[in-house]
Amino acid sequence: MSLASRKAAVRVLADVLAGTSTLDEALDKRLKDLPAEHQPWVRSACYETFRHLPSVKAHWQQHVKKTPSDPVAQAILNLGTTQILHLKTPAYAAVDESVKLTRVMKKPHLSGLVNSVLRKVAKTPQLPKARLTPETQWDHPLWWVEKIRQQWPDHWQDILLANNRKAPFWLRHNTHHPQALDALRQACPEAEQHPQVPTAWRIEPRPVSAIPGFAAGHFSVQDAHAQWAAFLLDPRPGERVLDACAAPGGKTGHLWERAPAAEIVAADVQASRLQRVQENLQRLQQAVAGQPVQVLEANLATPGSWPASWQAALAAGGRFDRILLDVPCSASGVVRRHPDIKYLRQPEDIQRISRQQTDILEATAGLLKPGGHLLYATCSVFDEENEQQVERFLSRHPEFEARTPSLGQGLPQTHGVQLLPQIDGGDGFYYAVLKKRADD
Ligand SMILES: C[S@@+](CC[C@H](N)C(=O)[O-])C[C@H]1O[C@@H](n2cnc3c(N)ncnc32)[C@H](O)[C@@H]1O
Repeated sequence: MSLASRKAAVRVLADVLAGTSTLDEALDKRLKDLPAEHQPWVRSACYETFRHLPSVKAHWQQHVKKTPSDPVAQAILNLGTTQILHLKTPAYAAVDESVKLTRVMKKPHLSGLVNSVLRKVAKTPQLPKARLTPETQWDHPLWWVEKIRQQWPDHWQDILLANNRKAPFWLRHNTHHPQALDALRQACPEAEQHPQVPTAWRIEPRPVSAIPGFAAGHFSVQDAHAQWAAFLLDPRPGERVLDACAAPGGKTGHLWERAPAAEIVAADVQASRLQRVQENLQRLQQAVAGQPVQVLEANLATPGSWPASWQAALAAGGRFDRILLDVPCSASGVVRRHPDIKYLRQPEDIQRISRQQTDILEATAGLLKPGGHLLYATCSVFDEENEQQVERFLSRHPEFEARTPSLGQGLPQTHGVQLLPQIDGGDGFYYAVLKKRADD
């Protein structure tokens, strides 16, 4: 791999380690000037580093007296160690290129250290017992390991292992185009349908331009377990449907595919992300007749701030038959797609996020018609955001009852269903169907 690629990777790692960007933001920024054919290596090197950061760091730290405070120095050592341990780069190349990097990155004083430390890493690929801790063994922060172990005593190891693997690549088939499956099987002979989610097809990862019929809206890229949302909400023609936290519109598109004749409103607080909802819909709506989706900027937690036209429609009885509430969450169910989350989140964030979810759920529930359904969804495996949230909501709202979804997969809970991340399957999701009494 080119020195320019390694330099870009070090910059990405240093940005994230310095706390100035998320991994995706740093990749967007640092990949701009790199030739397209070199970008996948940088992505994969950075993702692998964050997947295994605690053990990667422990490997090189055992050979230094003091951890260098410079994020660039740490990034060079992390990247070199990841190449040796996880990317099958020949050790001599990983060491030589890392030493060259110190010069290219104007840190020549680090050359000797990087050379000797990485050589030792290559000679001792196993961590000594003294360095084996829950963090280095599971490559997660201690609080995360303990929380998962306590909340999922029968599944914690599987969850942590799945979090550290590469996510499978799932497509959603737009069933308005049945012939698209023939084209898919021809272009991707490895394509396999999910055993429970009928629209989900797993293929080897590739750019969307190489997915047959992608531009024409025949397929979308969406995790298999995320596809349950549209089946569980089950919108019908003519109904008023709200997708309350819609951006970037993955689930909005699926709702529309399921019921193009429904009256769908897609709302989100972030105007910049709503553009993505529009783009997704335009791609899917080609050659399929249906109602346009109304895309709306709104903060669902503060009814006083809603657009006047919306307030007027609601006051005139225009409440919703069905609401999808895919709340902002810790994203603890999608760690393998965002491995930096493990280090960006702090334990106290979970309570803060949970309070934000409570506010949105409380206000949104008021938008539902009597007899209507609200689907509460998160991509989290933390109980505070899932069952505990729904439990508290039901105790405040006797006019609602929960109907545990029956999916033929996942772990049914008292109120909802928890899908755990699976190595060859979907991500971690939680769904609860909340039905409002008809006489309310
Ligand atoms: C999990 S994402 C939604 C993903 C989306 N449903 C999809 O499938 O593509 C959560 C979304 O909630 C939005 N959000 C956060 N707080 C909100 C609020 N108070 N009101 C409306 N949207 C909010 C965020 O901007 C973010 O786009």
